[in-house]
Amino acid sequence: MKDTSLRHLFPFFKQTENADLIYFDNAATTQKPQKVLANIHDYYLVKNANVHRSSFSLANQTTAEFEDARVYVQKFIGAKHKDQIVFTKGATESINLVAKSLAEMDFPAGGRILLSATEHHANIVPWQVLANKKNLQIDVIPVNEFGVWDQQKGLALLTDKTCIVSLALVSNALGSIQPVEPFLNKARALNIISLIDAAQAVAHLPIDVNKLDCDFLVFSGHKAFAPTGTGVLYGKLTALQKLPVFLTGGEMVKSVDFDSATYQSSPLKFEAGTPHIEGILALKEALQFIDSHRSQIIQHEMALITYLSAKMQSIPAVILYGDQDNRIATVSFTVKGQDSQDIGILLGEQGIALRVGHHCAMPLMKRLNLSGTIRVSLSCYNTFEEIDFFIARLNEAIGQLQHSESAKADIQDKDNSGNTPASVNPAQGESKQNPMLADSIKSARGWDQVFRQIMLAGKSLNRLAESEKTADSEVFGCESQVWLRCQISPSKQLTFEVDASSKIVRGLLAIVLEPIQNQRAEFVSAFDYKLYMSDIQLDRHLSESRGNGLAAVIEKIQHYAIQNS
Ligand code: ALA
Repeated sequence: MKDTSLRHLFPFFKQTENADLIYFDNAATTQKPQKVLANIHDYYLVKNANVHRSSFSLANQTTAEFEDARVYVQKFIGAKHKDQIVFTKGATESINLVAKSLAEMDFPAGGRILLSATEHHANIVPWQVLANKKNLQIDVIPVNEFGVWDQQKGLALLTDKTCIVSLALVSNALGSIQPVEPFLNKARALNIISLIDAAQAVAHLPIDVNKLDCDFLVFSGHKAFAPTGTGVLYGKLTALQKLPVFLTGGEMVKSVDFDSATYQSSPLKFEAGTPHIEGILALKEALQFIDSHRSQIIQHEMALITYLSAKMQSIPAVILYGDQDNRIATVSFTVKGQDSQDIGILLGEQGIALRVGHHCAMPLMKRLNLSGTIRVSLSCYNTFEEIDFFIARLNEAIGQLQHSESAKADIQDKDNSGNTPASVNPAQGESKQNPMLADSIKSARGWDQVFRQIMLAGKSLNRLAESEKTADSEVFGCESQVWLRCQISPSKQLTFEVDASSKIVRGLLAIVLEPIQNQRAEFVSAFDYKLYMSDIQLDRHLSESRGNGLAAVIEKIQHYAIQNS
């Protein structure tokens, strides 16, 4: 297939460190084109000076470039005036700016805020805080079993009681392009404040604030090839003028005394402190990149998603979520009978970087009755070969997991090397270690054998009863569901019980528990997990990020141990 991607413009993919990486996590953040990297480098080589303050020539020049970037953003989204563009550190900060500032204003009793079931936490929590503060109620546009808005029911929720409507143009969890227009039309007719979260749209779809005619629109730079820590809040001038200030400090003021201050008008009144200057100049470069390759980006991404969707639909066990007919180049899916985290871990072992879990959209996952999905989010630099590789590895992962079940290898099974995995059943007191799980992992050769040992280890764990999987026993900060319970004997020996929705995580937990099960609290609190896991070469599973929850479980184990020492 002809390579129509823009991959050659992204140095990230030319680095030897990334030679085997398949980067499918573009909804989380994008890689940066050479021109953006050069722009950042150039800024610190020749342009570094603060903006809007000093009047020496370099400072004037940098200020002029900073304001040029504002004009570029203005044109990029079709705004009428550059003063409608406020620079922030991202979409999250932009939404917080609006919600926190609105908290200074009056709302009628019984007022309501309309969100949708597909919103990212960043477009829920700020409104929740505002609702609590101002006694407002949150209404939610409902979705069907695939996460697609029920437009009619949603529109019926938009009434003269609604004060604010805040919706994502593209769902970050599902990739669906959502029908915001009828909601904006009705909001306008009813004089309701409207905000569009365009974070997932900006790199993929042309945005026109005039056409949308919303009061506010937000996006983050880093999802559109610009540096992290850059973002935009667009507002209608009247809306921005009415909005009280969010942060106070230098440059947002006209005059200051100890008992009073007068403020600048928008946008400076919302930009207290030194802004992310090099980031904003590079944001302009990133948006120029999109502008100059717009049609190629759209065509290539459309071809990628058509190709990927067809391949995914041909895998019988795959369930796709979101609106299949209106989407950016993202698919979100589960595999029947398998935990998404297991699939994610197996794909991760093959160098495929994608996101698994609730995607910061927990209420959506609850409504879909899922603990999470697997999300493949593509960009203009992804290729058809990468999709072929992914599909082959996905089929293998499904096969591996299905096989591990049908083999019915219980704890009595012999592994390839004739070893019997150890039991860590807490009810048995001292576990029968023959050999230790850690030794089985150490003697395993290659990921396939390690995987088999991890799966066998998981089978040695007693599962928790559903009634034992309580909020108290749940370990938070995990993208798979993990539970931990602890009992302490009169002699201060700790006995742990664990469970997880993911089979691989259950196996890893069995390995984590083995050296500390039924040991005294002092021993457990002093146990060096980093050393233990690196000795058996499983330390990469101890990620501090929410990943599989192993690090969070160990933290909780050590917390119990310290409390009881
Ligand atoms: N909001 C980003 C995502 O969806 C981080 O992954």
